[in-house]
Amino acid sequence: MLYNLKMQNITISRATIDDAEGIQILTAISSKGMYELCGWSEKEIQNHFSPEIIKSGTNKLKENIAIFSDSDILFVAKDNNKIVGYCYAEKQKDINRIEAVFILPEFQGIGLAKKLYNEAYKYLNQFNKTFLEVFSSNSKAIGFYEKMGFVDTGKKVYDKRFVNSKGEILPATEMMLASKE
Ligand SMILES: CC(C)(COP(=O)(O)OP(=O)(O)OC[C@H]1O[C@@H](n2cnc3c(N)ncnc32)[C@H](O)[C@@H]1OP(=O)(O)O)[C@@H](O)C(=O)NCCC(=O)NCCS
Repeated sequence: MLYNLKMQNITISRATIDDAEGIQILTAISSKGMYELCGWSEKEIQNHFSPEIIKSGTNKLKENIAIFSDSDILFVAKDNNKIVGYCYAEKQKDINRIEAVFILPEFQGIGLAKKLYNEAYKYLNQFNKTFLEVFSSNSKAIGFYEKMGFVDTGKKVYDKRFVNSKGEILPATEMMLASKE
């Protein structure tokens, strides 16, 4: 019932440059829980998503969307024109990559991430493997990706962009989805 009510107004479409700001705002809101799971303080999270950072992120994303090729797959979910979720994936030469799946907290748990992911996956090369990196502490997302068929490859990734106030880099776990036969 809740599923139907929340889903009934939602439309899914390819993102345009007009969606860039909504995507950045959504990322800031729905990252909060993700960074909390990773042990970041409220202040660290706020600093990571200051209005200046959201603005520069929006401009950068607009530039990127403007030069997107068929290999860049960015789908947004809108509820009455408000962006409530997105999935960004990339088709590379030999592999696919899932870069991000973000859902607004109040729209989580109704199957929206799955719907967006499945839509994006249709445009990937299904005869190649699909990889992603997810913060190792983000058990919620890991559970979701496992449900989508991904498995932990055992590789850890350390990206200096994701460092807390103690200077610790957040470890990420690489996950992989097998290619279709
Ligand atoms: C992770 C996230 C994308 C999941 O979104 P969601 O909309 O709640 O997921 P869905 O409702 O589409 O779930 C789809 C399926 O996965 C399952 N699932 C979702 N989260 C799960 C979890 N933590 N453990 C096990 N299964 C899970 C659901 O039960 C559902 O199963 P079903 O198809 O059998 O009904 C969402 O919590 C989110 O946006 N988190 C913050 C941002 C983030 O961490 N993104 C990932 C890093 S890029």
